[in-house]
Amino acid sequence: MKSIYLDNAATTSVDKKVIKSMLPYFNLKYGNASSLHLLGEEAKRELESARKYIAKALNAKYREIIFTSSGTEANNTILKGLFWHNYPAKNHIITTKIEHDCILSTCKWLETFGAKITYLNVDAEGFVDLQQLEQAITDKTIVVSVIHGNNEVGTIQDLKAIGDICKRKSTLFHTDACQSFTKVLIDVIKQKIDFVAINAHKIHGPKGIGAFYIKQGIKITPLLHGGGHEFGLRSSTENVPGIIGFAQAVRISNSKSMKKITKLRDRLIEGILRIPNAKFNGAKGEKRLCNNVNISFKNIEGESLGNLLNVRGIFTSTGSACSSNSLKPSHVLRALGLGRLEANSSIRLSLSKFNTEEEVGIVIKEITRAVEKLRKINSIK
Ligand SMILES: Cc1ncc(COP(=O)(O)O)c(C=O)c1O
Repeated sequence: MKSIYLDNAATTSVDKKVIKSMLPYFNLKYGNASSLHLLGEEAKRELESARKYIAKALNAKYREIIFTSSGTEANNTILKGLFWHNYPAKNHIITTKIEHDCILSTCKWLETFGAKITYLNVDAEGFVDLQQLEQAITDKTIVVSVIHGNNEVGTIQDLKAIGDICKRKSTLFHTDACQSFTKVLIDVIKQKIDFVAINAHKIHGPKGIGAFYIKQGIKITPLLHGGGHEFGLRSSTENVPGIIGFAQAVRISNSKSMKKITKLRDRLIEGILRIPNAKFNGAKGEKRLCNNVNISFKNIEGESLGNLLNVRGIFTSTGSACSSNSLKPSHVLRALGLGRLEANSSIRLSLSKFNTEEEVGIVIKEITRAVEKLRKINSIK
């Protein structure tokens, strides 16, 4: 049975072009970028050219990009680094109720050291309450951290509107762009952003490599101390193959693929919403990530639906994919106003450029059949 992979918000398959670009850096150009001999210099040169490429994609300067091991590490470094640099003079962080766990858990941890955290509300589509944001900023506020494209419901926040508020109120602005990078335009100058977290494995790059943008002149306390790599902000020998693969993944991303994915997304949504009592979650059209579909089905447990699809070779996700081994209702869906049962009855399908129209047709049929089956079983009970 040929499987259909619809869990690209969790991770993507590495593009062949990316694999090809990385291979020489394992056993031919394997130098340590800090070594002063020719092999080291070659690694350094290519690492810096990858850094420049990624910087350009965000309209940043090359020294403003710091490589990390993941999006999680990038987000941790920014929030903890800012807190330790500013505490105790400032201790307030503003974030939202729909962040990825790596932001929320970091905030919870910082609370144990005296951080005060404001968790902003969102509306029924997942958009941040900008008025609440503006009112929440005080002279103790260190940073406002808002996810760009939401990993569960795909809602894309208006970075420019948030950036304008932060600048007007003289506070820093961080965005977790792990789901949106290369899918939605990010321009750190125009949108007045001070920090951005990104990673490679959501865009057909390798796992274990991420980065963050830090606006020139802003100070943070690093998480890792050592040889002073990454302009002193992240000591550790650089993962050169990962960095080369990351830049290649950015290079091959293009608007043609995004248009194709958007078309598949809209067909999938339309087909699934023909099922009686199916409810669409999140924002619509251009304000939604091109690869995200999230739908709840009345009287169905999302987990059971995911299991039935899994048996049929269709890989999807319920709850917060990267850590969905719990049956706790998704905090994101709850923040959008869904009840516990409704939140537990949802499924997330996330597409990539490798999905096809034919697959979308099969998935619509399989989901329709699976929902009917589960509802019959439920009504017998
Ligand atoms: C929005 C968001 N932020 C951060 C992360 C964490 O990234 P990584 O898997 O590279 O640690 C993810 C991954 O699921 C994500 O979706």
